[in-house]
Amino acid sequence: MLSKENNERLTSVGPGTPMGLLMRRYWAPAAFSSQVPEPDCPPVRARLFGEDLVLFRDTSGRLGLIDDKCPHRLASMFFGRTEGDGLRCVYHGVKFDVTGACVDVPCAPPTSPQIMDSMKRALRTTAYPCIERAGIVWTYMGPGEPPPFPDLEWTLVPEAHRYATRHIQECNWLQALEGGFDAPHLTFLHGGDHKDETRHVVPSFYEVAPVDFGFIVATGRDFGGDKIAWNLNIMLMPYHKVISTSPMGAHMWVPIDDENTMLYSIDFHPDRPLNEAEIAKAKSGDWIHTDNLPGSDIGVRNKRNDYLIDRKLQASGASFTGLKGFGVQDCAIQESMGHVVDRSLEHLLPGDAAIVKLRQLLLQALRDHEAGKQIPGGDPASFRVRSLRCELPRDADMSKLITTLVRPQSAPA
Ligand code: FES
Ligand SMILES: [Fe+2]
Repeated sequence: MLSKENNERLTSVGPGTPMGLLMRRYWAPAAFSSQVPEPDCPPVRARLFGEDLVLFRDTSGRLGLIDDKCPHRLASMFFGRTEGDGLRCVYHGVKFDVTGACVDVPCAPPTSPQIMDSMKRALRTTAYPCIERAGIVWTYMGPGEPPPFPDLEWTLVPEAHRYATRHIQECNWLQALEGGFDAPHLTFLHGGDHKDETRHVVPSFYEVAPVDFGFIVATGRDFGGDKIAWNLNIMLMPYHKVISTSPMGAHMWVPIDDENTMLYSIDFHPDRPLNEAEIAKAKSGDWIHTDNLPGSDIGVRNKRNDYLIDRKLQASGASFTGLKGFGVQDCAIQESMGHVVDRSLEHLLPGDAAIVKLRQLLLQALRDHEAGKQIPGGDPASFRVRSLRCELPRDADMSKLITTLVRPQSAPA
């Protein structure tokens, strides 16, 4: 369990909150590049850390991410026109460029250049810098200059090596991230007629260690032989995970606000394109990706239709839940806990050890950030890591080995 105060420290991400301030020190995914595919294309909404923003691409191809609210009289810039060097509000025609500068005030009566300049200065809007990597538009919403972009392996591979989707989970980011590092749930929530034998055994051993990019979470399963089967998953600050499957997987649990999370899910190979069977599996709805309602990031299987639960399938045992696909199973159960679960009401069990440690380490990261210490993952090269599975002798001391096993791995392309 967690005190209400610490629960709020970890889960609140709005402007000025401890976690919101820490998260804003990292590049954040705002949209797929395909949502703003060409110069002067229609703008799109993007909500990040509780801030409503509008993303557009101007005539010269530059990306702008600005406050949704026009500073004149607060109309939505989503309805704006992309024109030349900026986005024009359709209420009274005020125009902003990608830096947030007001560049035209056609609704003002003729006046001196000095007065016009001062009006433009007063109408400056909030804008965040953007870059594109791996088919995603990323933004930096923190203070000062943006940090170097992290060497996340899946962002460094060619496009054909990667398959990415996203969907909204209507719950807090930490609830979703905790699900990603919750080893026992694999046996139950994702249980049923799947091929991975290792998931039929509940883990017996847990280790979590802070490292310079975030945390490593190691879970060990005991199959009765002379070795322990370990699964080491990495959490890269502030909300990334790399999954030790083949193809490899990655998640980003990006806060839309305190109560909603945009989950980006990626399948990738470091060294070859995804083949047809792998892409077909990704598109099947049986894996981490979800089918979304057309034109939205909401799953076809969502809380308004009980995720199309199939009780007959559940009763048959072929699926523990009767819910189709890992992504939907996680979504359903994590949303069922409420938008922001009150962790002061929990009754934790030994199998929650990794989650408890993860929370402690995140709280420590907040204290370190508040104390002005260097944040984890400041060095982009520290992100060059892979999750992995391995078997080790029973007497191997994972508490000592954990930080030596997962790196170094791939080099940037
Ligand atoms: S509200 Fe945008 S120009 Fe007036
Ligand atoms: Fe899961």
